[in-house]
Amino acid sequence: MHSTFMRFLQLSKSKIFILTILIAVGIGIGGIIFLYKQLPSPQHPGFEIYAQDEFRKSNYPYLDKSLPIDQRVDDLLNRMTTDEKIGQMALVEKNSIHDPLDVSRYGLGGVMSGFGGKPEPNTPQGWLDMVNGFESSARYSRLGIPILYGVDTNHGHSNVPGATIFPHFIGLGATSDPDLVRRTAQATSEEMLATNIYWSFSPNLDVVSDIRWGRTYETFGSDPNTVAELGKAYVEGLSVLSTAKHYLGNGSMEWGSSKNINFAIDQGVTRLDEDTLISTHLPPFKAAIEGGAKSVMAGLNTWEDKKMAANSYLLTDVLKKELNFQGFVVSDWYGVYEISISKYKSLVTAVNAGVDMIMLPFDYKSFMYYMEKAVQSGDISEERLNDATRRILLVKFELGLFDRDVSNNPDLSVLGSQANRDIAREAVRKSLVLLKNTGETLPLSKSVDRIVVAGSAADNIGRQSGAWTVEWQGIDGNWIPGTTILAGIKAAVSDSTDIEYNEAGNFSASGKRADIGIVVVGEKPYAEGWGDLAHPALSKDDLEVIEKTKARSEKLVVIIVSGRPLDIKGLHNDWNAVVAAWLPGSEGQGVADVLFGDYPFTGKLPVTWEL
Ligand code: BGC
Repeated sequence: MHSTFMRFLQLSKSKIFILTILIAVGIGIGGIIFLYKQLPSPQHPGFEIYAQDEFRKSNYPYLDKSLPIDQRVDDLLNRMTTDEKIGQMALVEKNSIHDPLDVSRYGLGGVMSGFGGKPEPNTPQGWLDMVNGFESSARYSRLGIPILYGVDTNHGHSNVPGATIFPHFIGLGATSDPDLVRRTAQATSEEMLATNIYWSFSPNLDVVSDIRWGRTYETFGSDPNTVAELGKAYVEGLSVLSTAKHYLGNGSMEWGSSKNINFAIDQGVTRLDEDTLISTHLPPFKAAIEGGAKSVMAGLNTWEDKKMAANSYLLTDVLKKELNFQGFVVSDWYGVYEISISKYKSLVTAVNAGVDMIMLPFDYKSFMYYMEKAVQSGDISEERLNDATRRILLVKFELGLFDRDVSNNPDLSVLGSQANRDIAREAVRKSLVLLKNTGETLPLSKSVDRIVVAGSAADNIGRQSGAWTVEWQGIDGNWIPGTTILAGIKAAVSDSTDIEYNEAGNFSASGKRADIGIVVVGEKPYAEGWGDLAHPALSKDDLEVIEKTKARSEKLVVIIVSGRPLDIKGLHNDWNAVVAAWLPGSEGQGVADVLFGDYPFTGKLPVTWEL
């Protein structure tokens, strides 16, 4: 022993340094293993996987659909362990669940697809199989509580290739047609139900005040009454669970206030006094709740120095007490953990403020761990835990999730059905706003001799659909089913009309000057803060194409495909007509319907557009 110690002392300084590092690394690894073992594991008590048959044979009252829902909720709640209640409060992005059986082991309440959360293969059948996989895992849990699977359906079931892509909300705002919005929502939920999805993260009820915001097109516009009326219609039309979002004041975040270094407005600060906040932004939520909205998403914005998910006054006093909201509050993407650098503190603050389901959306194991500690220590009361769980269960019972036949075989052919495409096409034509029409250029005759068509958005379903289409930031090109604006024009004109298309506006110089030039230009798809932009305008390239086409045609029609007004002041003097087409989606034929006079222009500006 003595000699060993002596030898150690004889080691060179560098060897002692290396040894110290090795010991430190060892302690570190040991610590991590120790901490990991504290997390609930598959063996965690309370989450044994029960054979489904055994569970089905039970005659628990909560499984009896003849009983009143409140009684069923009480019965189920009384049977649940603390861990099972905590699990119900977790909403997890599907890519974070490496083993689908974790849904059962941890009793997860919700699973979701953020955009990009797609199955392999990414087909309607692939979606159905994926959702069924998570659902059957949930059914194998001790009490067989179904999951809520949630998706963003901003303009149709638009994660899924082949679904009908409706105009983005800004276009629906331009229609100011509640009946049409109701039918749009109905068709969307019909397509969702074909993949067994019962939860939509829509409608967006933000009242936009600054069109530089990258989410302008996700809103119905800047008038609180229109947003309220159309939002309510959307909720009434959905036959799945709707989500009124983003509560509250998300549409009034200030330029330059974003907490995200990549953004300017999004995830920023709403600097409004309480009266203005309530009078501008609350009416749509009030209307949506009257219409039956049963989940409300707390935004990622900050008001009065508090992240929305931490604001107990707005979430509990105003929403749950004053508006008597009986559904559940869900937080937005990772929003809860932005409250504090301590996950524990974040969760305690958010849950006590009134958040019932937490869009984690990643690590559910540490969530279970911190929540258990919080309940054990009393930082989150049993009463609050029960209230949150009760709200979630109530919604699940009301949706009929406990009673539905999980072995159903839904009809996938409703995805992108002709009937739904017809509704989308109607929405496109009603959304078009005529910004300028000198010399009655529009409507066009279907039998003119020659039309030239140009522009980056003329023959591109990805562009005309905008973001939240298959991918979060959208797609480019024509690889999902639909009709481009160009194809719509071609289908509308007479057989004798000669149409030449060149994206860049390079038309054959020898050919006759066209009677009409149509240029379809605008914005490339963008989502959320990635679209925050100081000066939304047409690009140099787009203006060049307009010039070239103008030089080859008698009259020029410019169609702007964009999520918001683009600055064309001083540029349009020699353009004969200008049409705002917003982001029309997959049914480009609707543009030609109005261009060639089959239907009149009826759309009205949902936000101010200075010309
Ligand atoms: C958005 C929400 C959306 C959620 C899930 C967030 O980044 O703010 O509107 O529902 O992601 O995709």
